[in-house]
Amino acid sequence: MKLQHVIESQQFTLPMLVELFELADQMDRILIRGGTQDYNNKIMASLFYEHSTRTRFSFESAMHRLGGNILATERANTFSSVAAGETLEDTIRVVGHYADVIVLRHNEVGGARRAAAVSSTPIVNAGDGKGGQHPTQALLDLYTIYKGVKTIEGVKVALVGNLTDGRTVRSLAYLLGKFERVKIYFIAPHSFQIKQDILDYLTKHNVWFTLESDLKKTLPEVDVVYSTRIEPELLTQRGERLETISQYFIDDTLLKLLPSHALVMHPLPRLHEISPSIDSDPRAAYFKQTRNGVLIRMALLVSVLG
Ligand code: CP
Repeated sequence: MKLQHVIESQQFTLPMLVELFELADQMDRILIRGGTQDYNNKIMASLFYEHSTRTRFSFESAMHRLGGNILATERANTFSSVAAGETLEDTIRVVGHYADVIVLRHNEVGGARRAAAVSSTPIVNAGDGKGGQHPTQALLDLYTIYKGVKTIEGVKVALVGNLTDGRTVRSLAYLLGKFERVKIYFIAPHSFQIKQDILDYLTKHNVWFTLESDLKKTLPEVDVVYSTRIEPELLTQRGERLETISQYFIDDTLLKLLPSHALVMHPLPRLHEISPSIDSDPRAAYFKQTRNGVLIRMALLVSVLG
């Protein structure tokens, strides 16, 4: 599979996902051997306009494991010529001459698409804006579900937390919507519920979904509970009380309601959504997600670098 850019989840078809997951399995074997030098003549630029731990480090780790080289700026707004007023488009045109692939986290929805529009160097969207997309996170999430639950067809997934702005849940909903008999439960206070564009997409593709506010009621029914942060400052802005969101925190009591085969997932970083007391439970999959992130990002780099 040769990918030009990785911009949004909708661009991946089912055969592409199957191929990507097979490639990720191969990457696992390469990683266990300590990596390869196959891409030692390739350069990845990681251009981050927003903070990141997992996405930036896992892409950089993936490139190192492939034997490649890295150019990096972790605060592009401050440390690159963006601080001198350079546009995203000009920055991309320039960096494209220095690297074979650009991994971009941008603070505006549509930033990756703008970059791809002026770039013959592959652009990989590492998250764009609040309420945009984070397709590489969604791919690693889907791979984690595939590995943990063994199948994606018919899977029942509760997406919980800030669904309005959370780009990881938005991207994951698009991917889940490609599989037969999937059921998606969007669980959030009213002011943080999923936006209409995702619901329209799921309706158009005949995907079952429901909007709920009661996590306890849903937990016994699902194979996956995927929790995300609701930033405390957004609560007051949207007229919600702190006590309202504590009902969405997964602790030992709520975990008892979850089936024994199910997964607890989170893109991280977490605040209070998942109690550290459940970290050692076999259903806790959030640190597995971080390792799977390296495999999926190795597979994506191989797919764009050719
Ligand atoms: N999951 C995720 O995108 O984490 P970072 O913000 O640390 O990259």
